[in-house]
Amino acid sequence: MSPSEKPPSLTPLFTRDEIALRVRALGDAINRDYAGQTLTAIGILKGSFLFLADLVRVLNIPVAIDFIQTSSYGDATESSGEVRILRDFEGSLAGRHVLLVEDIIDTGLTLNYLWDLIEARRPASVAIAAMFVKEGKQRLNHPIRYAGFALVGDPFIVGYGMDYRGLYRNLDHVAALELEETR
Ligand code: PRP
Repeated sequence: MSPSEKPPSLTPLFTRDEIALRVRALGDAINRDYAGQTLTAIGILKGSFLFLADLVRVLNIPVAIDFIQTSSYGDATESSGEVRILRDFEGSLAGRHVLLVEDIIDTGLTLNYLWDLIEARRPASVAIAAMFVKEGKQRLNHPIRYAGFALVGDPFIVGYGMDYRGLYRNLDHVAALELEETR
């Protein structure tokens, strides 16, 4: 942000405690569903880094952790619709139970792309965990097995891993961001 730009306005939407409770509930469900199995959790960078870190610490099953990095927004507040892989995961996924861990599902195009990429590597199963899910503009072709919170009204949210122009990822809560020029 340049010194002459007005800072965006932030309206708190979800507190740290609300998020922690929801992560605990999702983790409990994952523990039940994958009991006796080994899970491979793949965090979709960068936005998922806090959700993944919190979620895997609730798990009591064996978990391998990997990351893939995609970009569809750049510095914009609207998805470009074009998914780019900036960093691929390591090793084979053949025969593994894969959990894709996403901070937010907006259009669903990132996950449509990644699901196909992962299926091609012959895992035993694929499932999706997403902390925030926008309602209304979904084009996701796959089920969201573990969903944190639904978002109505298409807010642009930041915090808990999510950014605007690289900032606000470190907030322990989630806020709606409104740019000065749109107010
Ligand atoms: C965001 C978010 C998801 C994706 C969701 O990532 O973290 O990965 O967009 O949008 P979609 O459902 O419309 O595809 P972004 O591309 O901004 O990268 P980042 O995680 O590094 O911020």
